[in-house]
Amino acid sequence: MLDLRNVDRARLGNDGLDFASELNAHAAKLEAARDAVQARFASGTDAYLGWMALPQGDVLPEVLRIAERAQGRFDDVVVLGIGGSSLGGLTLVTALQHPYFNLLGRRSAARVHFVDNVDGDVITGLLEVLDPRRTLVNVISKSGTTTETMAAYLSCKAWLSGALGADYKDHIVATTDPEKGILRPLAQREGYETLPVPPTVGGRFSVFSAVGLLPAALGGIDVRALLNGAKRAHDVFAAPASDNDVLKLALVNHLFAERGRNINVFMPYSTRLRFLSDWFAQLWAESLGKHRRGDGERVGTTPVKAVGTTDQHSQVQLYREGPKDKIVTLVKVEQADRAATIPNAEPNEPEMSYLGHKPYQTLMNAELVATAHALAEAGQPNVTLTLPRVDAENLGFLMQLLMLQTAVNGELLNINAFDQPGVELGKVLTYALMGRPGFDERREELQKAGVE
Ligand code: PA5
Repeated sequence: MLDLRNVDRARLGNDGLDFASELNAHAAKLEAARDAVQARFASGTDAYLGWMALPQGDVLPEVLRIAERAQGRFDDVVVLGIGGSSLGGLTLVTALQHPYFNLLGRRSAARVHFVDNVDGDVITGLLEVLDPRRTLVNVISKSGTTTETMAAYLSCKAWLSGALGADYKDHIVATTDPEKGILRPLAQREGYETLPVPPTVGGRFSVFSAVGLLPAALGGIDVRALLNGAKRAHDVFAAPASDNDVLKLALVNHLFAERGRNINVFMPYSTRLRFLSDWFAQLWAESLGKHRRGDGERVGTTPVKAVGTTDQHSQVQLYREGPKDKIVTLVKVEQADRAATIPNAEPNEPEMSYLGHKPYQTLMNAELVATAHALAEAGQPNVTLTLPRVDAENLGFLMQLLMLQTAVNGELLNINAFDQPGVELGKVLTYALMGRPGFDERREELQKAGVE
């Protein structure tokens, strides 16, 4: 699954690693990092490792019940959430539904639309084209207070109640903390269906909680297969370092970061996986960009989201000839769902007909291999993760593997990978600027500093 040939010194000279000896030298440290994460999870002493065994309690049957009830009743689902409360579901739905699902005449599940920004044109534009009688809104916020999500909720509630009167209540499902925040009591008061975001699961690790599972199930995705794939990643994680792709990937990133390669380009060769790059960028940046425990040093590498082949025609120039400050992670898909072959529609044009009769996936993978090699030739280390195909099980596996890798990289960096104090401050200052009750002091501070 993990191809590390293009990090090796044999190919990259001094830009590469002698990976076999590095792995040997670091095996004990990597296994200790893995064991530390597992031990904290098992003992329940870490408040944020709940994502290692999702979904919790009776969430799966609840998700399936709500999805089943929605089937045939709703044509459209509007998911309101931001960051960790949106990107996991968006990744799943985009990757696993028919690529043009929303244009299909006959559909077996609902169209799922993600509202993850406060762009009034987009929110009102979406509501202009939907039918409130046939629309379900899933508002997702762990804290139950996030400005962007609450603003979108207010728009949707006004739209639904304006059109449906008291019946709007049956058109809203709230996914939020089981106890804290204002969304939980509000949902109970209103009588909305609710689902929990476990307190032990941070947003960017929540894809296999109700946060990602409900939008996926409403979109007709096989959530059981997703969860099976996620479980399979733990078998890999448990293996010795010499046979453990999670630990190897973590080591590659760690060693190159130590050598000044502080940009991590994530580039799936698949349009269907384009939002996996967004999801990964958040996971990586928010988990690992921190002050180190002890000396307070600022650590972390910067994720760059890319998609192949599209960004081959824009960013790869920089990766080959720009500063040697990057490590590139490519994702390859072995087999496409459709046996799509390029027709030989111009048999008399040799400059085109060489493509004729070849499967699209062969072309896609040739582009990936060519890029990986061209990068290696230029001294640009890169790794390739291969998925047999884009399906629920494989995607569940890959996403859980990347979360486990991130946790190990957090251990190696000696940081808490599961908090996000840098994001929280921005949220608080927005509340202050927008006049949320309880934030007057902050507002005054900002005014004094000339921030309006
Ligand atoms: O990963 C995170 O913690 C963040 O991206 C949050 O998910 C995001 O800020 C949304 O927060 P909430 O779910 O509380 O609305």
